[in-house]
Amino acid sequence: MSKIVVAIDGPAASGKSTAAKELAALLGYTYLDTGAMYRAITFLAQRSSFADDESKVIKLTQNLDLSLRFENGVTRVFANGEEVTDFIRTPEVSNKVSEISRIAEVRIELVRLQRNLAKKGSIVAEGRDITTVVFPNADVKIYMTASVETRVERRYKEFIEKGVDVTMDEVSKLVRKRDQIDSGREVSPLMKAEDAVELDTTCLTVEQELNKIVELIKSVEQNSRPK
Ligand code: DC
Repeated sequence: MSKIVVAIDGPAASGKSTAAKELAALLGYTYLDTGAMYRAITFLAQRSSFADDESKVIKLTQNLDLSLRFENGVTRVFANGEEVTDFIRTPEVSNKVSEISRIAEVRIELVRLQRNLAKKGSIVAEGRDITTVVFPNADVKIYMTASVETRVERRYKEFIEKGVDVTMDEVSKLVRKRDQIDSGREVSPLMKAEDAVELDTTCLTVEQELNKIVELIKSVEQNSRPK
């Protein structure tokens, strides 16, 4: 099979990014972190102090030249040529990004961009609406979950490793609030697509997760071979 699309959705810190990155490296696919795009818009809107003004956020998105470069395990994000990679994963951005992601016009622009990026070759894309809206015909569709306690612990560890000053309680509130907004919004809410395979990563190592996904890809490849 010449071109494969692997689509992964799931709530914050369910293990999507780690699995998607490793998988892309293993198979030589392009890795597409769609959350980074919503984060970049959020950061730029906050920096210009108009994150609460929907029409300005929409205009920003429609006029933005957003590009991603995956290098050495990191998604580098460029907005109109300026690198914003280091600014998009702060608690401030994390706290606001779900609200920005509710805006339909923002989603339309970003979905268009995401589909364009997939034209070049095989891709592993992760986010909240990848299996349902962006690539509903993806070859492999995965809905990744983990218990909320596990996800909070993972996110807390990530913040601490980056030197961010947060408490477990703050992270718990943040993750739960984002879950609620991402799954409850009107436009493209996070949900399991009917034909997605659910993967609960609560008790899985990254290696076990990868093995399961690679198995799924192999079975798709086998089924698509001419008999
Ligand atoms: O995966 P992440 O935590 O970096 O995503 C940040 C936010 O972006 C998430 O809370 C909701 C939004 N998002 C979205 O609405 N649709 C996507 N495909 C990806 C992310």
